[in-house]
This record gives sequence, structure tokens and C-alpha cells, in this order.
Amino acid sequence: MKIAILGFGVVGSGVAEVLKTNKSQITKKAGQEIEIKYIMDLRDFAGEPFEHLMTKDFGAIENDPEVEVVVESIGGDTIAYEYTKRALLSGKNVCTPNKALIAKHGAELFSIAKERGVHILFEASVGGGIPLIRPYNDALLTDEVEEVSGILNGTSNYILTQMMNGTSYENALKDAQELGYAEQDPTADVGSFDACRKLAIMLSLAVNKQVNYEEIKTEGIQEINSEDFAFAKALGFTLKQLVNGSIRKNGVEALAAPFLIPLSHPLASVNDVFNGVWVRGKTTGNIMLYGSGAGKLPTASAVVTNIVDIAAANCLPCTWTSDKANILPTSTYAKRKAIRASFENANAISAVKSAIGAETVSLPDYPNTIAWLTPLETEAQTAQTLEVIKRFPGFKSIERVMRVYNAE
Ligand code: HSE
Repeated sequence: MKIAILGFGVVGSGVAEVLKTNKSQITKKAGQEIEIKYIMDLRDFAGEPFEHLMTKDFGAIENDPEVEVVVESIGGDTIAYEYTKRALLSGKNVCTPNKALIAKHGAELFSIAKERGVHILFEASVGGGIPLIRPYNDALLTDEVEEVSGILNGTSNYILTQMMNGTSYENALKDAQELGYAEQDPTADVGSFDACRKLAIMLSLAVNKQVNYEEIKTEGIQEINSEDFAFAKALGFTLKQLVNGSIRKNGVEALAAPFLIPLSHPLASVNDVFNGVWVRGKTTGNIMLYGSGAGKLPTASAVVTNIVDIAAANCLPCTWTSDKANILPTSTYAKRKAIRASFENANAISAVKSAIGAETVSLPDYPNTIAWLTPLETEAQTAQTLEVIKRFPGFKSIERVMRVYNAE
């Protein structure tokens, strides 16, 4: 089976490497040899062993009847969208790790693929190297998903893990970029936009409707500091960038933001570049899928499993419709919050403490600052609580309000 790779960056070159390294295993599973016929990239790669495969002309790929699979590893949702659509329209299967493309144009691309009798597979788009989309999608054939939450951005998780161990945000981000984890513009990682698109994909699969990622509230990790970590620990939590999706009768709840996670929850031990996805099925109960969430070879391996699925004619439908899912307003989501506030002096703190009616924690390094947990309450109720706190004599500032993850 002949394939073409579009975009020879981290993942595209990883696909070539995995095909070479695991050749005999892949040939056995695929039932045939998989050969790269074209590599399309703006660069020339002069002198490289694969130089003879390089092209800048998508038309050559599109019009070559021998090419059965196009690997789209350009990224983004502009050129990648155009070439993916053209590849499908010309009767070629597409395998892609591109979450931006699938989150935005999934429904349309699935319908073109169906009409042309080909597949578009996206195993690597969520959770990097974790075998995730296929088992999740297979499980959906027999169960209803009630919750899908997890750590879905390797870069942010790496940064937060390093920060917890004392590294600065800037140095941790630089390392993540050097290790090939981060997007070209790392704002997508640290701003939770990348994780938000991945959540949209997981929820779209669950509800069989297009979940518009632009309607999902995102909050980034850029502001997180050592004080947040210190108070998280004092309250018995760790701090992670999390996606949190719940499927309700009238729509979906969806958030991509920093959360406090109880140390006893399995997601609390997902560190570094690892991702963990927590799924609750109505009858299946809780499942956690865990593995490398970013990086060249893990991500490329997931793309290669899709190529092999196509070669071995082992594809199950993995799609959703273009109907729009209803995303519920965040003001109605019921969650506990950890509030941290600072005051002018100890007297102000003792007055507020008795009014709060919850246990508070304080740390010697942060004088006149307390943190406490609210009961389970909506965001609208938390906003009211904050207004009350702000009116206390001696109030200085609300330092942080962070949601607490509680698996339902
Ligand atoms: N930048 C992404 C991450 C790559 O860090 O998770 C994998 O999707």
C-alpha cells in the first residue's frame, strides 16, 4: 500500500521513522508492505535519504491512483483542511493527528469520506500515543458516556510538573518546546485551547453531535505560581490543567482550565508529558486510559496504527453528525472551589474565618492569606460568595479561585 505524508515536521518524520523501525511487525499486521511514495513539505531536505520522495505539488499526490492513504501532518485548520478535503474527494483515506482540523471540520470531513467510501482516522489527535479514540469509540457502541475528563495536554502537564519541582515556568516551557511537545504557538498548549479541542472531539464522539470548541470555556495555566502549588498541597490537592466534560440530559458541560485534583484520584499521579483520560460509562463504570500524550514517536505510532487499520481493512465508523450539541453555560456547573484571599491583618482574618464556616489553611510564607474550600456550588453562587468576602473590613484581594475536580 502506497502512502503520502503531508508535512515532514515532528509527527510526519516520526511516521516515516516508525514505519522503518517497526517494518516487519507492521507488514505482518497490515497484511502488506506499506511504502511511502511521496513526502510533501515546503523544505527540500537536500542530501537526506528520502530526498527523492519529496514534492511540493499536492496535485501529484491527489492524481496518483496508487496512493491509498494520505497522512496529514501539516497541522492547523487552513491548508490542512484544504488538502484533507481534496484527498478524500479524490478517494484517498486520510490519517491525521490534527485535533484542530478534526474538532472544527470533523462532521463535514466524515460525511465526504462516507460519500467517497474511504476513511478519515484520527487516533493521534487526542492523547498522543495512548490507544484512546478506538477503545473509547468501541465502548460507545455498547454504553453511554456520562463523563469524560482528563489531562489532555502534554506540554502543560510537563510544565506544571516541573514547576511543582521548583523549575520556573519559562524554563519548563523552553524544555517542552525542545522536547517537541509544544505546538508551534505554545499559547495553544498553555492557554488550554489545545486541550479544549481534544475535549470537543471526545464529547462529539460521545453525543454524536458537533461540539463547538469555541463555545467551551478555556482558562490557561500562564498565571499559576508557586503560591498556588503551596496552597493546593496544604489543602490536600495537586494542580493540573484539566478538561472536564459531563453529559447531562439537556446538553453538555465542558471546561478546559486549571483544576485542583484530590491526591487520592488516579489523575493526580499523571505527571510530565503523560496524559490520562477518565471516562465514566453508564454501565461500564470508570475507566482511565494513560500514556505519553505528546512527542514524536508516541504520536507517530498512533498515526501508524490508523494506516495499518486501513491496510488491514479493520476500520470501525468513528464519526459524529453535523447536528450542534448544546453546551450548557458555565454559571450553572456545580463544583467545589478553593478560594484564596488576603487581608490587611490577623483581626480581619479571624472575623472572616467565623463567617466562612469552613476550615481554612494558612502558610507561614504567605502572611495574612487564607484558603478554604466551598461546598458544592454553581459558579454563580461562588460569584456571590466572593462579593460577600470583598465587603469584609480589612479585605485586600482575592488571590485565586480554583475549581476542584470531583469525579461524580
Ligand atoms: N502540543 C500537544 C501537547 C501535542 O502538548 O499535548 C500533542 O497533541
